[in-house]
Amino acid sequence: MSTSRRPRSGSRTRRSTIKNPVNYLGRSRRAGSPAAFLTVHSFAKVNLGLKFVGQRADGYHELRTVFHSVDLSDRLTFTPRRDSSIVLKCSDVRLPLMADNLVVAAAELLYAAAGARRGVDIMLEKRIPVGAGLGGGSSNAAITLLALCRLFRLELHPARLLEIASSLGSDVPFFLLGGRVLGIGRGNELFPLPDVKAAAILLAVPKDLRIGTQDAYQRASLWLTNSRQANNMARFGSAVFEKVSALELFANDFESVLFPEYPELQHLKAALLAVGARSAQMTGSGSAVFGLFPSISDARRAEKELRSRLSASSLLTFVVRSIPRSQYLKRIFAASE
Ligand code: C5P
Repeated sequence: MSTSRRPRSGSRTRRSTIKNPVNYLGRSRRAGSPAAFLTVHSFAKVNLGLKFVGQRADGYHELRTVFHSVDLSDRLTFTPRRDSSIVLKCSDVRLPLMADNLVVAAAELLYAAAGARRGVDIMLEKRIPVGAGLGGGSSNAAITLLALCRLFRLELHPARLLEIASSLGSDVPFFLLGGRVLGIGRGNELFPLPDVKAAAILLAVPKDLRIGTQDAYQRASLWLTNSRQANNMARFGSAVFEKVSALELFANDFESVLFPEYPELQHLKAALLAVGARSAQMTGSGSAVFGLFPSISDARRAEKELRSRLSASSLLTFVVRSIPRSQYLKRIFAASE
């Protein structure tokens, strides 16, 4: 299936702000002919914390969140074409392949911004569960930007790349940075936090429960309207900076919004704590719930126990490690080595 490039609609004009850009974005490869193909990893994220501040004039929610990369990944392979088409194939037949797939949208926007002409075949091998709050689609979009810049040696200012990422979705800019990052605004204004020792994480995703992001935010609006709790931002801010030297969880407001509707998620969190997680939480707007463990072997033991306690056939589980920013870019491109 092939998509021809065409201008995006005028709605994709939201701006991103980056307070501390890292210098690798937009850097070109050495001179020489473009590689025959490029294979990259596209890593997932968890939210260590997520707090709603309120509803914004543009309809989005003002957030405070802390993202962290984890080493559960999809694989993307980019092969230059002789014509100018962008052609996406995907191992998951349920994903849309035309311009409403974020990978195609990312390639189109990048081509328009950089004046690129040569088409590309893109093979997407999915492993990150869709609709689980793990950021798979956003990661795929950001990594498409990085990979095409490298493959075709496109020169684009990092701020422009972040702007394109932000227009694709609120979480997309994070995946250009990776590691541990504080996100404010829509989640797209980023402050990288220092790397800490990698943590062992057990991810648990109910197989039959996919929560739409938009639906979850609509519920959040109602919750914000009805909630009498004062949103104590000072407490969130001081928690982030108190816990800055270790990988810690800060609470996720989506739990208050979604647990009453989906009690199985609350049970999953309780089950993770019961099998030894030192803390557990939902990521983003769910449905994945994750627990932190002292070591990978502890997380593997807990995975077995969790699967025997709950109905294993209804649950996807993954034992993963957090990825520090110092390793993030290397590991994206390590797939082709
Ligand atoms: O930015 P993105 O396209 O990923 O957002 C998907 C939907 O989630 C938006 O249409 C909006 O309804 C909601 N959202 C929000 N506030 C945010 C991020 C997303 O309301 N900070």
